[in-house]
Amino acid sequence: MTILITGAKGQLGNELCRILGEGVSERGELPLFYERSRIVAVDVDELDITTSDAVDSFFALHKPNLVFNCAAMTNVDGCEGNEDAAYLVNAVGPKNLAVACERHGARLMHISTDYVFDGLGTRPYVETDEPAPNTAYGRSKLAGERFVLASCRNSCICRTAWLYGYIGNNFVKTLLRLAREKGSLTVVDDQVGNPTSAVDLAWQLALLAASQETGIFHCTCNGEAVSWNAFAKRIMEKAGLAVEVKACTTAQFPRPAKRPAYSALENRHLRETIGDSMRDWKEALDSFLVNYLEQERRQ
Ligand SMILES: NC(=O)c1ccc[n+]([C@@H]2O[C@H](COP(=O)([O-])OP(=O)(O)OC[C@H]3O[C@@H](n4cnc5c(N)ncnc54)[C@H](OP(=O)(O)O)[C@@H]3O)[C@@H](O)[C@H]2O)c1
Repeated sequence: MTILITGAKGQLGNELCRILGEGVSERGELPLFYERSRIVAVDVDELDITTSDAVDSFFALHKPNLVFNCAAMTNVDGCEGNEDAAYLVNAVGPKNLAVACERHGARLMHISTDYVFDGLGTRPYVETDEPAPNTAYGRSKLAGERFVLASCRNSCICRTAWLYGYIGNNFVKTLLRLAREKGSLTVVDDQVGNPTSAVDLAWQLALLAASQETGIFHCTCNGEAVSWNAFAKRIMEKAGLAVEVKACTTAQFPRPAKRPAYSALENRHLRETIGDSMRDWKEALDSFLVNYLEQERRQ
């Protein structure tokens, strides 16, 4: 079996490459399904998913049986300033992959986001809730979802949120750096969501890909949804940093793209099919911090 990972240098792509390459994750052994599989891991420099000719040639050469599309334009404010670019990477790119997968009989695992919802909910969103994105990023990702579902029968859409991993920039790493530079931090406390470890997401994706399931799946870490402020406090506490974390509102910290106030997702489809293997966000974060801080010490 040949497995293609696009966006392989990103947070999630990197973690997937690691576990599929090693055959094991921090979460456990990978299913036998992955034995003797060949991993083809590429980023935009080797395969730009926005070019259908490039995607077609790549498929003709490597003949992947399973594709994890981790490529995306993830800079939410950057997308707001350039919706055409966002659409190209987050909608046309997945469409090109979906069309090629359908033609070659390959399975496609595509990653999407909580930003497809309007953020006005009062209970966690489930897969059957109607999307209503408020941002260019959310609109482009929703278009990508729809292209994938329409173009490739053997596909899964996996919506995640508030992602952090060992490689790349994310909230956890940024806060650790800022905490060491400053005596105090100010973090919004009126946006609520599910912090999600790339370790757990990659593991869950590997399990889902090995199943026969198709359709939309929410894949975030479990436990009660939290604000960025509460997330920040947990990071400080577990990293042993005695830094005050002050609260502010979204209105006090305006950004080009409107952030959803409440974007918690419930992994209902996973729970009702192959099982929900995502840990509680606190457990996943604590484990990430132990490993990440140890890596830092060794460098
Ligand atoms: N990060 C989050 O908090 C979050 C939340 C919800 C959902 N998601 C979704 O989860 C998935 C993985 O996110 P992530 O945080 O791992 O993303 P990431 O770290 O930004 O990685 C995305 C990768 O895709 C590459 N890429 C960009 N344009 C490309 C193109 N045209 N062709 C091929 N590769 C291209 C990027 O390269 P460059 O860096 O050179 O552009 C980058 O290496 C994405 O679908 C994202 O929308 C992320």
